[in-house]
Order: sequence, then structure tokens, then C-alpha cells
Amino acid sequence: MDPEEKLIVALDFPAAQPAMALLTQLEGRCRWVKVGLELFYATGPDLIELIRQRGFKVFLDLKLHDIPNTVAGAVRSVGTIGASLLTLHAFGGRAMLEAAVSQSLALETPPELLAVTVLTSVDAAALHEVGIPSTPQEQVLRLGEMAVRAGVPGLVCSAEEVSTLRGHLGKDVRLVVPGIRPAGSAPGDQRRVATPGQAIAAGASMLVVGRPITQAPDPRIAIEELLREIGQSSR
Ligand code: C5P
Repeated sequence: MDPEEKLIVALDFPAAQPAMALLTQLEGRCRWVKVGLELFYATGPDLIELIRQRGFKVFLDLKLHDIPNTVAGAVRSVGTIGASLLTLHAFGGRAMLEAAVSQSLALETPPELLAVTVLTSVDAAALHEVGIPSTPQEQVLRLGEMAVRAGVPGLVCSAEEVSTLRGHLGKDVRLVVPGIRPAGSAPGDQRRVATPGQAIAAGASMLVVGRPITQAPDPRIAIEELLREIGQSSR
């Protein structure tokens, strides 16, 4: 797979204008962008079609988490707006995941579902605080196995869990990894971080990168370096 197919640029912006301006810099270099809660709530679904018209595939990171009937309804509503990937929280439970899968299968061209396991901003202490005594590694594996058994074809996890998940779930599951920080860059609010090379070498299918690109002095140079590192580690 080309390095360009493995990089998802997170368009974490408060309005369409800066997102579309970044697309101009990404044209010809990147194929995937992520629209998350901030941009989607600011612009609504029409932006997805505009991004597609510019030739990009959309990872719609809405992290759905509600009762099964409501999540199925959300999949029905956003499943037709042109996103290629759509996230939901594995923590919503097996019945919620199964309802989402069965609704997506009823759509003509459904987005591929990805279950978010444990957010990359969460470490062991933060898990304990919400009453989960497991390590992130154990919790990711528990949720990941449940999601795949429920029929979800891909997971979002940190680089730290990729090789364990590959060992248990095999090579076909799509593992999408945020919390990517090129050597020397600031972690910000992320806790379970890795370099692009480490994540790809561990077996990540795709990387999600936001601030290391959007806050770089020259996003195009940041992208070139990311793609080079992804290419080198894919060999
Ligand atoms: O700026 P940064 O590279 O940290 O952005 C990471 C992106 O990946 C954000 O848009 C965030 O919402 C998303 N994400 C994450 N951890 C997850 C799932 C998604 O950081 N588990």
C-alpha cells in the first residue's frame, strides 16, 4: 500500500474555511482527511461532499456512543453522506456495535465502521479514575475482540496495542492509530504516543495525524517527512 493511503490528516478546525485552505496544501500528496466533532458540528454534513469533490476520502470521526437504537439511527443518518470510514465507541457495548453493523449493512454504500477502543489521551491512571482497573493494553484487547466479534471490521487504538491486537485478531483487521508524534514534537493532551515509524513498524494500517501537520510552520514539509517515514517503515 502507498504511504499516501496510510496517512489521514485530521482537519481539526472550527470552521470550513481553514479546513478547505489546508486541503489546497494537501492536494496531490494526501488521499485521506478526518472530519471530527469540532468541524462537523461547525459545518454540518454538506462539507463532506465538498471535500469529496476535491478528491479526498473522508474518515468521519463522530465516535458514536448511545443506546443501540439511537446509534443505529445515527448510522442511517450519516451513513449516506459520503464518508468512507465512520467511528463509534466500543465502550457502548456489544448490542450497540451489532445494531450499528446491522444498520450499516442495510445501506447501499455504507462507510466502513471503526470501533474506538481506549482514547490515546487516556493512560492507566485515567482508566482507574473511571473505575476500570485494567491497563490500557488489557482494555483495548477486551474491547477490540468484542467489536470484531460484533462484526466491526476495524479498530482505533494506540501504537502500543497494535502488535497485541494483530497477534489476536490477525492481519485483516484495519487498525487506525492516532497519537502520532514525530520525534521531538509536543505530545499535547495525548498520552499513548508513538512516532510514525514505530506505529507502522508495529503493524498499523493507517495513522491519524493532526497538530504535527496543522500547527507545523509549513504543513507541506511536515507531510513530506511523515510520508517518507511511513514509506521507510513499511518495507
Ligand atoms: O492533533 P493530534 O495528532 O493529537 O490529533 C489526533 C486526532 O485523532 C484528533 O482529531 C483526535 O480526535 C483523534 N483521535 C485520537 N484518539 C482516538 C481517536 C481519535 O486522538 N482514540
